[in-house]
Amino acid sequence: MRRSDAARAATAIVAAAGSGERLGAGGPKALVELAGRPMLSWSLEAFAGSAAVSACVVAAPPARESEIQDAAAGIQGLEVSVVTGGRFRSESVARALEPVETPIVAVHDAARPLVSPPLVDSLVEVLLDRPDAAGVIAASPLTDTIKRAREPRPAGGEMPRGGRIVAKTLSRELLWAAQTPQVFRADALREALFAEPHEVAAASDDAMLVEKAGGKVLMLEAPAENLKVTTGLDLRMAEALLRERAAAAARGREANLGGAASAPPGRDGSEC
Ligand code: C5P
Repeated sequence: MRRSDAARAATAIVAAAGSGERLGAGGPKALVELAGRPMLSWSLEAFAGSAAVSACVVAAPPARESEIQDAAAGIQGLEVSVVTGGRFRSESVARALEPVETPIVAVHDAARPLVSPPLVDSLVEVLLDRPDAAGVIAASPLTDTIKRAREPRPAGGEMPRGGRIVAKTLSRELLWAAQTPQVFRADALREALFAEPHEVAAASDDAMLVEKAGGKVLMLEAPAENLKVTTGLDLRMAEALLRERAAAAARGREANLGGAASAPPGRDGSEC
């Protein structure tokens, strides 16, 4: 058991500097309202509840730093600082990594608001248990059968009429979808971000840069609800799941209060 080692060993880095174009909400995705709060604040609350995280650095969209600061202001128990994000995701992560002093970093996309404290803690604990590994990432095994098309998708994402030709069916048994949080030894991530600028610019996650630099990266299966908000449908699903979570927490609090109210005299320390 490594819980004592994990305590406060990590700094969270939240990549929140995306423009949110694909969601079409007219502003940065991290600031879109989700279940009554800016999307970013759900991730920050999860890091505040994690025993492994001592501080957080958020990469903000340029010129939106004060709104990001406001979204972080209501979070209790987490020291949050804000840096200006870069032109691409890995540049945002590199900027947020500069002030980090802890040996471990947990990099997370603000676009995954359903992250939870147990998921963050488990990732950090696994990394501490595995000195041979440079990182541990949240991931989910693929359930669909996966086809490789002959040509890449067009940049705008539009499908041509008449469909795409299948080049190959891939073996699903070996395929996983990478998610965040992605937890790394801070030095391994620093080194990985020194790669060729075009490789860094094209990286869609940090693990691929660490892998390319020769680091061993482990995957830990994440709960199915750790979804990424990209489309309006994702936003509706995330909203429903967060409201469900809030209702379950409220029921839990009520049950606790009920239990305390019906407890026999003497069980409560104040009555002894
Ligand atoms: O665009 P996509 O949803 O894949 O972005 C993943 C995460 O990276 C988002 O949370 C987004 O805010 C962040 N990002 C960033 N800096 C950029 C581009 C994206 O922090 N320049």
